[in-house]
Amino acid sequence: MCRRELLDDETRRSMMFAFTAAWLRRTLRSVADAILTRMPLRRARPDTDGTLVVFGGRSEIGLEVALRLAAGRVVVLAARRPDDLAGERVRLLEAGAVTVHAVEFDADDLDTHSALIARLVADHGRIGVAVVAFGILGDQARAETDVTHALQIAHTDYLAQISVLTPLASTMRIQQSGAIIVFSSIAGMRVRRANYVYGSTKAGLDGFATGLTDALRGSGVQLLLARPGFVIGTMTRDLMDSGVSPAPLSSTASQVADAVVSALRAGRTVVWIPHTLRAASFVMRLVPQVLWRRMPR
Ligand SMILES: NC(=O)c1ccc[n+]([C@@H]2O[C@H](COP(=O)([O-])OP(=O)(O)OC[C@H]3O[C@@H](n4cnc5c(N)ncnc54)[C@H](OP(=O)(O)O)[C@@H]3O)[C@@H](O)[C@H]2O)c1
Repeated sequence: MCRRELLDDETRRSMMFAFTAAWLRRTLRSVADAILTRMPLRRARPDTDGTLVVFGGRSEIGLEVALRLAAGRVVVLAARRPDDLAGERVRLLEAGAVTVHAVEFDADDLDTHSALIARLVADHGRIGVAVVAFGILGDQARAETDVTHALQIAHTDYLAQISVLTPLASTMRIQQSGAIIVFSSIAGMRVRRANYVYGSTKAGLDGFATGLTDALRGSGVQLLLARPGFVIGTMTRDLMDSGVSPAPLSSTASQVADAVVSALRAGRTVVWIPHTLRAASFVMRLVPQVLWRRMPR
């Protein structure tokens, strides 16, 4: 065997070794994660007494979550056009909210977030549950060539989330209580070609929220990271009207809210909706890229 062939064999062997080691590492990490997040020892019921705040107060999922948590609480809907929340207010009062306030909140106006959160605490006392539910799906086809639109999606779905979550976590650390609900998505678990702009923001947000969950350990503040699949509702309506069928394992806002609230009460830090998505996400990671890039929306 000539020297050149030997080297090629060695290169091939080391590449195979590196590939197998990386695959094994990912698999073991997922299995360990699956086991550990089911361990009852990790769960402590959070102290969620206090005001319920929904950032993105008109969000279909955010409102469904709020309706399930509203009884006996002061509720604040932080949204654009706060004067246009009469329907949401009535539903929350019917669900048992003590009072419902609406405040101006523009997720894209990053400079206002810290002051808004400080004002919420000054006006309504400690925050019991913060539901961070704002977001945009955007138009993937447009975002592939229109940089302004691509940046808009990244701004609202990633930067603005960090801009709200950071002062929220600091404020709630000081009060040593409360829960923050963050909405990631299956779209961020392994980003697809068909949805890569929105998907990449969710991948970033998921990573940020996972790190923040760990940073908040022992602080008395719980972060619950919700990972829904396709939700049939307001956000996906235009997409469905354009002829896209709901993805397998899709759910409704009401089903998402049921799962989120029961996970919150159980003290969990992650919830998949539906729960079978967790296994699907594991399998998704094993699909070769050559097939993955053909996955539909
Ligand atoms: N729907 C799904 O398929 C799905 C799946 C997985 C994860 N999620 C995530 O779940 C969360 C809630 O989604 P949803 O289904 O409830 O969507 P939704 O009903 O469309 O609500 C999104 C809300 O975000 C608000 N928003 C957007 N940009 C804003 C800005 N710059 N400032 C303030 N508010 C802004 C919108 O307010 P306006 O009313 O003022 O427009 C809207 O009320 C989002 O983070 C979403 O990405 C959704």
